[in-house]
Amino acid sequence: MKTRLRQFAGAAFLLVLTGCSSPTVEVGNLKVIPLPQEVFQPMTEKPFVINARTVVYCQPDNEVLVRTAHFVVSYVKELTGIEMEVVDECPSSNVISLSVSENAKGKEAYRMDVAENRVLIEGGSEVGVFYGVQTLYKALPIVKGTEKVAALPAGLIDDAPRFPYRGFMIDVGRHYFPVSYLKEMIDLMAMHNINYFHWHLTEDQGWRIEIKKYPKLTEIGSVRDSTLIDPVTREYDGIPHSGFYTQDEAREIVRYAAERFITVIPEIDMPGHMMAALASYPELGCTGGPYTIPGRFGVHKEVLCAGNPETLQFAKDVLEEIMEIFPSPYIHIGGDECPKKRWRECPKCQAKIRELGIKETPEHTKENQLQTYFMGEVEKFVNEHGRQILGWDEILEGGLTPNATVVSWRGTEGGIAAARQHHPVIMAPIQYLYFSNPRWNKIPGVNSVKRVYCFEPVPAELTPDEQKYVIGVQGCLWTEWTKDSLKMENQLLPRMAALSEIQWTEPDKKDFESFKNRLPAMLEKYTVRGYHYREDIHDTTIVELPVDSVLYHD
Ligand code: ACM
Ligand code: ZN
Repeated sequence: MKTRLRQFAGAAFLLVLTGCSSPTVEVGNLKVIPLPQEVFQPMTEKPFVINARTVVYCQPDNEVLVRTAHFVVSYVKELTGIEMEVVDECPSSNVISLSVSENAKGKEAYRMDVAENRVLIEGGSEVGVFYGVQTLYKALPIVKGTEKVAALPAGLIDDAPRFPYRGFMIDVGRHYFPVSYLKEMIDLMAMHNINYFHWHLTEDQGWRIEIKKYPKLTEIGSVRDSTLIDPVTREYDGIPHSGFYTQDEAREIVRYAAERFITVIPEIDMPGHMMAALASYPELGCTGGPYTIPGRFGVHKEVLCAGNPETLQFAKDVLEEIMEIFPSPYIHIGGDECPKKRWRECPKCQAKIRELGIKETPEHTKENQLQTYFMGEVEKFVNEHGRQILGWDEILEGGLTPNATVVSWRGTEGGIAAARQHHPVIMAPIQYLYFSNPRWNKIPGVNSVKRVYCFEPVPAELTPDEQKYVIGVQGCLWTEWTKDSLKMENQLLPRMAALSEIQWTEPDKKDFESFKNRLPAMLEKYTVRGYHYREDIHDTTIVELPVDSVLYHD
């Protein structure tokens, strides 16, 4: 597959200009991934050639632009071996010039104008310039270590994203990944114009963020004894798994991402998926424990006790520290997969239901409404700190809290329901945008690049007014069966390329054949950066397992 795709790249994109004594010029392609909205690339004009005297210019007093100019320097060095200088005064030629100017299409918009003697990237703000620079990187050929010189084709790009929210989630609860590796993941997101890194920090199987007021969360909650390696045989590996991020490390991730215009959204998943916290502080559960951190995955019946005021205080205390670390306007508070068995049996939870006067309704059980009460209290606290909550679509089940944004994962239905209630929606349906578990997941087709590409996040059954509530799209990588970089990247790539085109490119410009033609240049960039993409992009093989061996336990 790789060979065929690469041969195609050769035919489509390499315009090779040779002269008797001058080196071969390899010309890139402005039609990158995600495809810019407007690309005019006549191929009849002379290209912009990068040589040892090419410089980058931006206004020297704009620190953010200067930083982005240094990204240009590092990208060009990576692809060509040439180390350019960032200059304070704009020369009349042989320059890549970065500037900011009002753009009718918004702050993330940019124009890139390539002529024989200069490249102008003009962003609606510094963010727009950054996306122009990503396009420049992806449009350049790779000539480092060869005799060739790199060039950009003359042309004009006029670009702006379709959605303001372009997210990717990584679960570090099931398996811990070091800070240095998360930075590589952030680089990958930046390359795909993704602007939100949803960091799933807590799980049944591990609590991964330092909370100073509750030290046992990491002393106890970040270590599990053993991990299930085969749901069929129920075999465990017998190897302890641990790891957590100090608050300083988390701040470093926030800083690193911000330099790449990515906002880090922390998720503290509650009131379910809390067994690591319960093992650390058993008094937060309905039964009082003792609890152990499970080495098996799925949905566990032990959850936070919603009738215990100390539990609510715990949630607020944790989020107080989280909001100090993460400046994100969004804080994800989970809400998914919280079985109500314990709450039905718990005197405290039942007393709270009576105290609140909660009555069963045809739409909502009492316990689902108790969850809405709990999440509503947490939401008020988050809102008081000037932030908004995100929650998985189960937060619809007891009625939405007033200001919630819904992340629709169990299909698009939750998103449709939320949009009809005029709540913002992020589409992340498991059937299309979960990139993990192809082996154990029962839903067919989750691992095809085409299936990702063809997902349309704005449901046709919504009215035009309701459709406006779909603010974005997110891919998710859960790590139950992902513990190393090779598997991580094989699952991510090149599906993330397909995702980026859903997130960025207007639907009338999308075309899978065109995407496939543009993909080889992207795969080459992955290789240059040392990412391991999966070569067979059409694989949709799913191994079906006995029903009770997958996903759900207890
Ligand atoms: C989820 O996949 N439980 C959000
Ligand atoms: Zn309880």
